[in-house]
Amino acid sequence: FLLQTSTMERTYIMIKPDGVQRNLVGEIIKRFEQKGYQLLAMKLVRPGKEHLQAHYADLAGKGFFNGLIEYMNSGPVVAMVWGGFNVVAEGRKMLGATKPSESAPGTIRGDFAVEVGRNICHGSDAVASAEKEIALWFKEGVCEWNPSRNAWVYE
Ligand code: TYD
Repeated sequence: FLLQTSTMERTYIMIKPDGVQRNLVGEIIKRFEQKGYQLLAMKLVRPGKEHLQAHYADLAGKGFFNGLIEYMNSGPVVAMVWGGFNVVAEGRKMLGATKPSESAPGTIRGDFAVEVGRNICHGSDAVASAEKEIALWFKEGVCEWNPSRNAWVYE
């Protein structure tokens, strides 16, 4: 198909503190790069509890919420924006199911995680939430560039 900007999406992908501590940063970036997606923004940050509570605001009523915030606040995270065709849904597939016990082998969680409370990575679950998360994590905006390899990724 034609490379149309209307079918291109952006998603917010985050390597959680356990992924960073376990030296999985390169492995996770490698998978998105090799798939053919485009890196649009990236930083290593400790955003603090308030920011993490804002990121997970939809889960505020859940029993695991406080534990989730403690865990997310326990070390730096790698915040990234990736772009490409269908990258929101496809990115979630690459991450695997939320619970590592249900994530297929070959997915990031399926290959590297055991428990839901230490599931290594985050990926936006819809185009609208992706745009919200990108705005929250990258107030400075993302990088605009045209990868020349796109001609070899898209027909
Ligand atoms: P959720 O938004 O349901 O899943 P996902 O990250 O796949 O979009 O939950 C957010 C995070 O909360 C999840 O990645 C890990 C944590 N969590 C728990 O610790 N226990 C749970 O029972 C659930 C459902 C999630």
